[in-house]
Amino acid sequence: MAGKVLSVASECVPFIKTGGLADVVGALPAALARQGWEMRVLMPAYRGLIPRLAEMTEVWAESLLFGGPGRVLAGRLEGIDLLLLDAPHLYDREGGPYAGPNGDWWDNPQRFAALSWVGAALAREGVAGWMPDVLHAHDWQAGLAPAYLAYQGGDDARTGSVLTIHNIAFQGWASAALLSELRLPAAQFHPGALEYYGNLSSLKAGLVTADRITTVSPTYAQELMRPEFGMGLEGVIAARAGQVSGILNGVDTGVWNPEAEPVAFSAGSMAGKAVARAAVCAEFGVEVPGPLAIVVSRLTDQKGIDLLPEAVPEFLSQGGGLIVLGSGEPALEGAMRALAAVHPGRVAVRIGYDEGLSHRLFSGADAVLVPSRFEPCGLTQMYGLRYGALPVVAATGGLADTVIGASPATLAAGAATGIVFYPTDALALRQALLRLVALHADRKTWARMQRNAMTHPVGWESSAAAYAALYGELAQ
Ligand code: ADP
Ligand code: GLC
Repeated sequence: MAGKVLSVASECVPFIKTGGLADVVGALPAALARQGWEMRVLMPAYRGLIPRLAEMTEVWAESLLFGGPGRVLAGRLEGIDLLLLDAPHLYDREGGPYAGPNGDWWDNPQRFAALSWVGAALAREGVAGWMPDVLHAHDWQAGLAPAYLAYQGGDDARTGSVLTIHNIAFQGWASAALLSELRLPAAQFHPGALEYYGNLSSLKAGLVTADRITTVSPTYAQELMRPEFGMGLEGVIAARAGQVSGILNGVDTGVWNPEAEPVAFSAGSMAGKAVARAAVCAEFGVEVPGPLAIVVSRLTDQKGIDLLPEAVPEFLSQGGGLIVLGSGEPALEGAMRALAAVHPGRVAVRIGYDEGLSHRLFSGADAVLVPSRFEPCGLTQMYGLRYGALPVVAATGGLADTVIGASPATLAAGAATGIVFYPTDALALRQALLRLVALHADRKTWARMQRNAMTHPVGWESSAAAYAALYGELAQ
């Protein structure tokens, strides 16, 4: 083995997921194992995971961990070497990982400080003889882990640390009054370290203390240093530019594999795709002579969903159709329902979260729309590439890094895999959809683009190699 990595995160597929973070945290251990790195994942034992503790072994305990007893149990579950932080006073609750029925949990600062504290402790002390070379913290929920490690370690030989930003919109704000309760050193409460606009931010704490900072695409790594994208942290990130890099996410090509779908197809044999398309149109009661577009997304401002009502009518009038699968902000859910009501037989909407349905949609669709205002990486455009559902994406973050937009130059070179538009507004999206209609009607070009898309590499191989190289630098 090249070395050992302790990954600390609040979500991990197949145990708990609210977004792409979970997919990535769950995929990294196997991808890194192929590079010779052994990775264990530390995450909270949320209520749904408590029954699994019986299969695991206790490896660490603290009698008073942010308000109650905490212990870590280790075991191999679903092919992942998992470390679960069992602290019922923090995690044994009905609801999601961050919020209950009445909104965000009031004690989220303590809940994720506890996760980070334990991450730093295990990185420093090891776990039953297993000593990590690198601590890899994900997003604000683990942002304090590199900070605890840096503030307590003191010696140069301490475990190296990486902080990955999956989404800067969530920064882990906490009141400055919590400084000592969160076990943070008062001496570090200044603008160069923990202080953030008079308060605390666990993401900022990680950004100033981690040995390396990564984010999930090269373009987002650049964007993060600009005020439009950095959301207040652009200066902090720019100040560490030499330690910042972007490593694209991959997708699990075993799970996202058109050849393994009930109606199988591949770049060389597309008949099954037409069958899948007919099936999904029948399932949703739509009839679409032109391109069938889908959206599979959280319905939030980030994702540009609000642009659809203005952008799609002309696309529909030219033969296009749209199926939306998603859930999120009530106003956007309502807007999507209204869109379907105004365009029966052309637009259909399913509010909810449904993995099986998302597979059927990618199988049947001609295009997937991702009109995000910002997108650190994005996974659905890559599912679209794999399934020949050509991505129509905003030119931002990982979308710009994974899709080759159709232009005279890329079409002449036979390289285009989708449509890339700029800026993220309703006019640019409307124009992109009209280009989609035109390209779809040009059978030869469309077939070439589909073939390009389906053979474009979207697996983990090259990104896992990039993480391995980064870990290698830190482990020396
Ligand atoms: P984000 O993490 O910002 O939501 P990503 O594109 O990185 O965006 O990841 C989203 C993940 O969640 C993808 O795996 C996507 O397929 C999945 N997803 C989002 N909404 C739904 C839904 N309603 N039903 C099924 N899967 C969904
Ligand atoms: C975040 C981002 C998304 C990214 C995912 C996994 O949720 O919004 O773009 O793909 O994290 O890194």
